[in-house]
Amino acid sequence: MSATSRTFSKMRFLQALLSLTAAVLVPAKAKPSPEELAPLYAALDKGPPDDLTLERRVPLSTNDDTVAPLVDLQVYAPPVVPQDGSKCTVELLKHDFGDGSYNNPAIVAYTPPTDKACGQPGNWAAVTLNLTVYSNGTQYDRLSSLYLSHVEIWRHSSAEPTKTGTIWTIVKDVTHYGALFAKHGDLLMDFSNIISADYALDGVFHVILTGTFYAPTALFPKPPVADLVLPVTNLSPNQTNFFAIDDDAGGTANVTVPRAAQQAFLEIYASGNSAEEFWYLNTPDEFLPYFPSSTGLIGKGPFREVQALVDGTLAGVVWPHAVIYTGGITPTNWRPLTAYGTYDQPTYFVDVTPFLPVLADGTEHRITLRVRGQGEDPTINSNWYVSGSLHVWLGKTEVSGTITTYIAPTDALAVTSGSVSANNATVRTSVIANRSILIESVLHGDKGKQIVRFEQQLGYTNEQKYVSDGWVQWGVQLTEGTTRSTHGGAVVLRDAFSYPLSVFSNYTLYEMQFGAYGSAIDQTYSRVLQTPAFAHDSGTTVSIQHAQGTVGLDDWPGLRHAINGTGATDQQFAFHSSTGATYYRSIAARNDVWMRDSVWGSLRDEEPPVPKEQIKPGGGPGFRRELGPEPLGCRAW
Ligand SMILES: *[C@@H]1O[C@H](CO)[C@@H](O)[C@H](O)[C@H]1NC(C)=O
Ligand SMILES: *[C@@H]1O[C@H](CO)[C@@H](O)[C@H](O)[C@H]1NC(C)=O
Ligand SMILES: *[C@@H]1O[C@H](CO)[C@@H](O)[C@H](O)[C@H]1NC(C)=O
Ligand SMILES: *[C@@H]1O[C@H](CO)[C@@H](O)[C@H](O)[C@H]1NC(C)=O
Ligand SMILES: *[C@@H]1O[C@H](CO)[C@@H](O)[C@H](O)[C@H]1NC(C)=O
Ligand SMILES: *[C@@H]1O[C@H](CO)[C@@H](O)[C@H](O)[C@H]1NC(C)=O
Ligand SMILES: *[C@@H]1O[C@H](CO)[C@@H](O)[C@H](O)[C@H]1NC(C)=O
Ligand SMILES: *[C@@H]1O[C@H](CO)[C@@H](O)[C@H](O)[C@H]1NC(C)=O
Repeated sequence: MSATSRTFSKMRFLQALLSLTAAVLVPAKAKPSPEELAPLYAALDKGPPDDLTLERRVPLSTNDDTVAPLVDLQVYAPPVVPQDGSKCTVELLKHDFGDGSYNNPAIVAYTPPTDKACGQPGNWAAVTLNLTVYSNGTQYDRLSSLYLSHVEIWRHSSAEPTKTGTIWTIVKDVTHYGALFAKHGDLLMDFSNIISADYALDGVFHVILTGTFYAPTALFPKPPVADLVLPVTNLSPNQTNFFAIDDDAGGTANVTVPRAAQQAFLEIYASGNSAEEFWYLNTPDEFLPYFPSSTGLIGKGPFREVQALVDGTLAGVVWPHAVIYTGGITPTNWRPLTAYGTYDQPTYFVDVTPFLPVLADGTEHRITLRVRGQGEDPTINSNWYVSGSLHVWLGKTEVSGTITTYIAPTDALAVTSGSVSANNATVRTSVIANRSILIESVLHGDKGKQIVRFEQQLGYTNEQKYVSDGWVQWGVQLTEGTTRSTHGGAVVLRDAFSYPLSVFSNYTLYEMQFGAYGSAIDQTYSRVLQTPAFAHDSGTTVSIQHAQGTVGLDDWPGLRHAINGTGATDQQFAFHSSTGATYYRSIAARNDVWMRDSVWGSLRDEEPPVPKEQIKPGGGPGFRRELGPEPLGCRAW
């Protein structure tokens, strides 16, 4: 890609951002600062060094070398691991999720590796997991979740496979779950899949999960991970462990925290499903009557807040990044390059250390995770999948103290407005939300008397425009803010984020005999993350994606199939770890074929580019169709 078009796409993103930020009333310092992002943008603008030699990267082998499987990928920052010590890799789980796998997870015993090369259990410098999935046939995107000893450690969604086979691999840093990996336990993977001749679904997911354990070295010692990781899940022995939430009560787990706990953080996984998969495009209830029900618009508004409560008292919230799955909005947009987070959803942190005087008394306490939307009784549709884990650091002293400041309103302030033009031709909706939380305690523990302060400042805007009875929709959303905590004045948690998202979708031809639909999507994930346990993958991440595509369908109504289509995705990605490692990627795909892939930075070899021979600058001929310049007329408004 030339510098000009790269600058253009960045400008377009900045303009979209600027038009929105005026409406968000959070302090300028809350999101990632221009100074923090500048080195990442500068590296992307400069492009890769000229002398790059593209290494051959061989996908998982198939016996048929005339039909190579499609390598599908989500761009991610490879884990930062020691280069100077010993390591070992062990297979943890191998399973085929096919017929009968719905609500029937794979469960295997986990034993800490004992080989000397792995290092002493619990003393690892790093632990990474490699999830590799192969699938061949036709299948929807399916959600999977992985648990060790009932703690969720990975939320992952599948590719939609091809008939000649599709493979994807992603490596995840799980070092901060070290306390779990040090003990025997059960590894449970849910990947509920459906094989059905009636629906022509035959894609089985063949999963291989390996773990790599890195012994500590002088340069790369064991990071200060939690001593205990407790599940905040439903603890089922034989079903998925996240809470499937479709009411306002949410899910509650009991935890027992030892008296010597010195600090404790909740890590939270959260994703919308079914009628909540596209929560950010849901319509405020006040405006639903302006659309015919046949349009299929879903109510309860677009604003969602995931709340964490300790014994019924709000402790912190999550305003999540919208992860778009491979079948999301327009499936052809995401093959072979997925949206950020599809294969490894981001997680979020709430510091519950201010609650330790109550929580750490050696008896059971309730931790509740719930989701608030904008509807009534319940405030959300069905459903959200939410789970958590409590990371606890132990010391010598029994902790005591009191909460001295508590400013945490039960709900965010969300204000909905909108307008309807003559004859209901154009409907506009707007939702603005914000909130501030401040919880402060004086704690007495190992470090003597300490002030522990947890604060959140979050802002949200969502503007939508609908025409053609709701068959055409624009949604522009910006979620940004900061979660921050200090212990004795030192910053232990900082999550400064900005998640702009813009979706245009056009379904006007959907109900025709040979119908079609399409979309154009811009999405950015910009986040500076510093957490106490994440010494190695703390850092700054920017992912900027543009995707657009169309799908042509066969006979309406009935069981419909995609018969042709187009899809193109372009992504710029940059990561700077807090330890100085870097990873940059500039990648594009069109109609199932890679057009461009440059990878540079110190982590390049951990996740190298697609093999040169798979790159075709013009992209593929498409899903039996060429991509026009403006599919379905993606005009700005
Ligand atoms: C939150 O929004 C309300 C109403 O839009 C506004 O009055 C208030 O100042 C905002 N607060 C913050 C912290 O931005
Ligand atoms: C991940 O695992 C797969 C299959 O087990 C293997 O082929 C691949 O090389 C591994 N990738 C990395 C980066 O370790
Ligand atoms: C794909 O699946 C079909 C039908 O199950 C099978 O005949 C074929 O060998 C598979 N191809 C590959 C490359 O695995
Ligand atoms: C799953 O576990 C529950 C609780 O132990 C048990 O009642 C149920 O019978 C189990 N179901 C299956 C299919 O094993
Ligand atoms: C949690 O503890 C309460 C009593 O404190 C009990 O009523 C409840 O059933 C427990 N919940 C679970 C999920 O074990
Ligand atoms: C516009 O929608 C409102 C609310 O459903 C309805 O009462 C009204 O009749 C509609 N107007 C037209 C011209 O369709
Ligand atoms: C997709 O297929 C339909 C039905 O055969 C056809 O009418 C349409 O023109 C095709 N679209 C393209 C762009 O090839
Ligand atoms: C939606 O698609 C239809 C059919 O291709 C097209 O006529 C119309 O202009 C599109 N609408 C917008 C707003 O782009």
